[in-house]
Amino acid sequence: TRVVVLLSGRGSNFRAIAEAGLPIEIAAVISNRPQAAGLAWARERGIPATALDHTEYADRAVFDARLADEIERHRPDLVVLAGYMRILSAAFIARFEGRLLNIHPSLLPMFPGLKTHERALAEGVKVHGCTVHFVTADLDHGPIVIQAAVPVRADDTPETLAARVLAQEHRIYPQAVRWFAEGRLAIRDGRVNLQDDST
Ligand code: GRF
Repeated sequence: TRVVVLLSGRGSNFRAIAEAGLPIEIAAVISNRPQAAGLAWARERGIPATALDHTEYADRAVFDARLADEIERHRPDLVVLAGYMRILSAAFIARFEGRLLNIHPSLLPMFPGLKTHERALAEGVKVHGCTVHFVTADLDHGPIVIQAAVPVRADDTPETLAARVLAQEHRIYPQAVRWFAEGRLAIRDGRVNLQDDST
């Protein structure tokens, strides 16, 4: 399974996937931010790493078309968004639908969008978490592959909560990629069915 990873920053989810011993080849890592730490880490490991700076493109449509062409050069079976912090255009999503995964730091459909840990604390929820889902045109609402729940503590700050959620992200994202690589994820009626192993 050939995987292309898109990221914008730190890249800890990318590292977790790269180091999980999965039956995949990371064909390339692409960042819209040239300074992303995830790019440097990939280069150190000999993983092809490309920066495509979105600020150098006229608009989202032009940038996303260029990004999609760059991705397709690597002939991926799967495209993994790992802290890719730009909204993708509908045309881009249509090109990769069914082979495009994202991780979101909340228990979707709660708290789509940004600042999820702040919002979870403000709402007083007692359970928070993270979600790996297929990306569809509906932002943060695609078919859910796997979730992990994290209890909220009375003394949590956005930072302490984020750290515990992130530890779960590093567990469930590799798991989701493994299932994809094993051909076990079937989408029906907008839901993911996990096919069993014994086939
Ligand atoms: C993660 O919390 C992810 O859920 C969110 O952005 C963060 C990326 O972290 N979308 P990293 O770059 O993988 O370390």
